[in-house]
Amino acid sequence: MKKITVPDIAGMKAGGRKIPVLTAYSFPMARILDMAGIPMFIVGDSVGMVEAGYDNTMPVTMDEMIYHSRAVARGRTYALVVTDMPFGSYQTGMDEARRNAARLVKEGGAEAVKVEGGGRMAGVIRAIADMDIPVMGHIGLTPQSIYRMGGFRVQGRLDAEGERIIEDARAVEEAGAFSVVLEGIPAGLAKEITGALKIPTIGIGAGPHCDGQVLVVNDMLGLNPDAHLPKYVKQYADLKGEISAATARYIKDVSEGIFPSEEHSY
Ligand code: KIV
Repeated sequence: MKKITVPDIAGMKAGGRKIPVLTAYSFPMARILDMAGIPMFIVGDSVGMVEAGYDNTMPVTMDEMIYHSRAVARGRTYALVVTDMPFGSYQTGMDEARRNAARLVKEGGAEAVKVEGGGRMAGVIRAIADMDIPVMGHIGLTPQSIYRMGGFRVQGRLDAEGERIIEDARAVEEAGAFSVVLEGIPAGLAKEITGALKIPTIGIGAGPHCDGQVLVVNDMLGLNPDAHLPKYVKQYADLKGEISAATARYIKDVSEGIFPSEEHSY
């Protein structure tokens, strides 16, 4: 298969082809998903919630993002790797934003970075894109804004809020982003934004009319032990069930002296 690039992703919208995206955080998962044909990974700061057990994404650091991004980049041969800029790595000044974006590329193997926020982040998006680092925007329900939003709440239900999100989408495109995640917004609003933009929209909790769709891989595969799944998630496997059953069999085999046997001995 041919390596996917940023222009290929833009070409998928132009060609009317939907863009399937998954998050990835580790080498083995990236390898499996890449071999299955996923064209784009987001190394999301959701890693803090689904892999490190934090309540939200705020504590995730640059060093943690670099570690996970590098593992994913090593695991893929085909998919485009887009890595999240974590909270505090780009809001504190253009130089800091540029330096951190460059670290994600140099040390994390990212081919693009993702920045949360609309119009207010346009300057940051432009500054990073001017370094020839492709930028993915992220608007609507932006998890790094949970303290302002009062939690993980659907955005844009009111007309005025919807108008602001449309302006955010335009600002992100004008600033030079190559695509934009639309998270937690009504399907009708996502449809309007998708029709208005030239760059691809990647939805999560944004209905069926986006150019692409992303899910957190742990949600998609049923790997979250306790979490309540949001309404927008479709679970395609029950890995939690598979792992529990396999572990129970292992415990039984070892307890009963069935494993290891001669077959597994030197
Ligand atoms: O952090 C994340 O995983 C994300 C994607 C779900 C878009 O931002």
